[in-house]
Amino acid sequence: MQKAFLSEFDDVLGSVREPLLVLDTSLKVVGANPSFYKHFRVTPENTEGALIYDLGNGQWNIPKLRQLLEEVLPRNSVFNDFEVEHSFEYIGPKIMHLNARKIHQKSSDAQQILLAIEDVTEREYYKRNLEIIVEARTSELAKARKTAEKEKATAEEALLEIKKLKKQLEGEKTYLTEEIKLEHNHENIIGKSDALKYVLYKVEQIAATNTTVLVLGETGTGKELVARAVHHSSPRKKRALVKINCAALPANLIENELFGHEKGAFTGSSARQLGRFEVANGATLFLDEIGELPLELQAKLLRVIQDGEFERLGSSHTIKVDARIITATNRNLEQEVKKGNFREDLWYRLNVFPVTMPPLRDRTEDIPLLVAFYVKKIARRLGKDTPIVPKLMMDALLHYHWPGNVRELENILERAVIISSGPKLRMVDDFDKPLAGLRNTHKTVGTKTLEQVERDYIIQVLEQTNWKVSGKNSATQILGLNRSTLRARMRKLDINK
Ligand SMILES: Nc1ncnc2c1ncn2[C@@H]1O[C@H](COP(=O)(O)OP(=O)(O)OP(=O)(O)O)[C@@H](O)[C@H]1O
Ligand SMILES: [Mg+2]
Repeated sequence: MQKAFLSEFDDVLGSVREPLLVLDTSLKVVGANPSFYKHFRVTPENTEGALIYDLGNGQWNIPKLRQLLEEVLPRNSVFNDFEVEHSFEYIGPKIMHLNARKIHQKSSDAQQILLAIEDVTEREYYKRNLEIIVEARTSELAKARKTAEKEKATAEEALLEIKKLKKQLEGEKTYLTEEIKLEHNHENIIGKSDALKYVLYKVEQIAATNTTVLVLGETGTGKELVARAVHHSSPRKKRALVKINCAALPANLIENELFGHEKGAFTGSSARQLGRFEVANGATLFLDEIGELPLELQAKLLRVIQDGEFERLGSSHTIKVDARIITATNRNLEQEVKKGNFREDLWYRLNVFPVTMPPLRDRTEDIPLLVAFYVKKIARRLGKDTPIVPKLMMDALLHYHWPGNVRELENILERAVIISSGPKLRMVDDFDKPLAGLRNTHKTVGTKTLEQVERDYIIQVLEQTNWKVSGKNSATQILGLNRSTLRARMRKLDINK
């Protein structure tokens, strides 16, 4: 009877692609469609009449299937999409959606169960994988977002740093553009005397550190060359040596130059200006003629040297700097301290590593080398052949007192090269006279201090040049000093017309 029912639908069942199974109420297989046999690799002989759980050597004894057939179905006449997951011996793991339906046969009043099996293994696996993929991708994206946020923060920090550096570079550029206008001697320190070699040895010793260096020596001895040599042998050499001459400006202007100002700090300050200290951050600051620094600024300088901090004029914001300090002076600072012109605490701070450039008269060995160097250099600059220096002239140069030291020698040679037209160098200056005068003074009187002699001599030269301080035939030319140095000396020695 049951078979009859099946044969009624045989054609229909045969054409359904989903595996189908018809069971009787005792759960024995009445029949199945070809798709079922093919899908589950079983034959009609072993299937028809067998209990469903016994199919394929008991492979269909699946707890979930039992649940559907014995618990769920008796309470419902239809049940769809009952998910069963099972690993079959021949065909491996399968995920199936079972759709079960009770069928009444009117003719016999028998009841049968139609079980349609939908194999959703691939779809489910894909879905599950998709979930895993989406999860992995989501966590990847979350990670990428975090990284991006971090990178953004880093980039913002970098931008701030770049802005800061840019500001500093602009300051440095402005400073350097001004500096380039001044003619710089490259740091060819000429000489072979032991005294000079000792100075160079000290430079080498200290260059690599951050120690403050104090360069001492008479005017024109090459103190600035020493300062530059220290900077250029130091790890800071890639940056500029930032210089300020403390004798060249009045106190309020030096303060402004050193520490900078905010916009509106004083009348006429229309924009913010960086001070030399800020420009020299990470580099070296050369404070020339430090002996001339006004007392009120000495305290401020001490603070920067001690704590590395200061404020711009017109600002309460404290700025930190790391600038290596080199100072130079031709003064006897110890005496200035005693006289109350120089702060003792600052003097101790500056005097950590003093380097003294000896006067030219104490290293005459260097004179022939300097003469050869400068005569050649000046002649080349003037487009002339290098003249020969006659022996008599060299002797005179060797015995001269050189109060203006190398700068004076350079000036004398320059004038000589200019007027010499033949192969021999001709001297213009009667440079023996001042020395003779000086010698006499020392021999006969011997009571004047060096400062008094210097004062007398400067006055004598000024009178001789009608108080012409700069330019051709001026006092600076004769004395071999630069203008600011001479003015500073005049102020110091109280020389007025
Ligand atoms: N050893 C040297 N070799 C070559 N040139 C030198 C030497 N010493 C000094 N000079 C030159 O002499 C001139 C004066 O040097 P510098 O300006 O360094 O002296 P200074 O001691 O700083 O003088 P001042 O006290 O007047 O500032 C410069 O032109 C410098 O190039
Ligand atoms: Mg100098």
